[in-house]
Amino acid sequence: MQPKSHIVNLPVYQPGKPTEEVKREFGLTEVIKLASNENPYGASPRIKDAVLSEIENISIYPDGSATNLTTALSNHLGVDSNQIIFGCGSDEIIALITRAFFVPGDETIMADQTFSVYKSNADIEGALSIEVPLKNGTHDLDAMLAAINERTKIVWVCNPNNPTGTIVTENALITFLDAVPSHVLVVLDEAYCEFVTDSSYTDGITLLSKYPNIVVLRTFSKIYGLASLRIGYGVGSAEVIKLINQVREPFNTSRIAQVAAIAALEDQGFVDQCRTLNAQSIVYLQAEFDRLGLSYMPANGNFVMVDVRKPSGEVFQGLLRKGVIIRAGHQRYPSYIRVTVGTPEQNAVFIQSLEEVLHQVSAQV
Ligand SMILES: Cc1ncc(COP(=O)(O)O)c(C=O)c1O
Repeated sequence: MQPKSHIVNLPVYQPGKPTEEVKREFGLTEVIKLASNENPYGASPRIKDAVLSEIENISIYPDGSATNLTTALSNHLGVDSNQIIFGCGSDEIIALITRAFFVPGDETIMADQTFSVYKSNADIEGALSIEVPLKNGTHDLDAMLAAINERTKIVWVCNPNNPTGTIVTENALITFLDAVPSHVLVVLDEAYCEFVTDSSYTDGITLLSKYPNIVVLRTFSKIYGLASLRIGYGVGSAEVIKLINQVREPFNTSRIAQVAAIAALEDQGFVDQCRTLNAQSIVYLQAEFDRLGLSYMPANGNFVMVDVRKPSGEVFQGLLRKGVIIRAGHQRYPSYIRVTVGTPEQNAVFIQSLEEVLHQVSAQV
């Protein structure tokens, strides 16, 4: 067999540990998963009826162009239908963009600690990832700009950034976009934008009319609570979206996901409520981290990067034994863990468990 040489040694993506696996492994009955930035409040109750009535049609292929959902989203965002593409999660849009744009030898620029799927897809297509160090946990847009050369095809800006939770401000983003050559595509990954409450943030949709070289990525997996249905989207100029559409599989989003996403969009009250609850829980978590003498990064999504001042892998294992799953092992931040903001009850269990684990782990970083 002769696979593409550059994929032979690629690692398989390691998702957050599933709850069932942790229950089995440690003989636990209660496990809290705060590892994958899912919505702890589930999804809008309106989704249930939409999903149940669509079950009648599951033997029929979905509408490959997701026409009804596209109309609903174009009304919601105030963009044209031909500026939108849906994917099996925004993960798939990332893959499609790399498939449409990269040939081996191209270069692409991203932060050195950001969502790993940009690099893994660039690797698959044989493109070279230039990883620019974050500055204080935030994208260093000046350094990213300086890294652009004639081989650069795409720059990825994750805003808010996963895992640090930091944002780039409107001013910084506009200065950057003004300077990026127009033939370079800028992907603004806004998977967590609906959680942001900081007024210095701007959302990429508002910038689309001025910058035809941007694609904004969004998802129904986070604040909308539809992670298992796998539906996300990209928004950009009609020209760029057409190119991405040309490499899309015919039926990449399911009927159930499409109707659920329409129902989710119709319930913006649920989104507002989740944003408020998330912000309140961040205040609680930060106060507890202050009490424990731990520093943390500004949290603009539904997760917090906190410096536990111990090897994060050991804290991860200690929490796992207590039935709390978080994320650790961030290369640039060996003493940080990333915890998803949960319900008030989950947050309290996490804090209590963390306090106990920090007393148990003696190793220093
Ligand atoms: C920054 C970021 N982008 C994209 C995604 C992919 O989300 P999905 O494929 O569920 O839409 C995630 C998931 O965690 C993420 O954190």
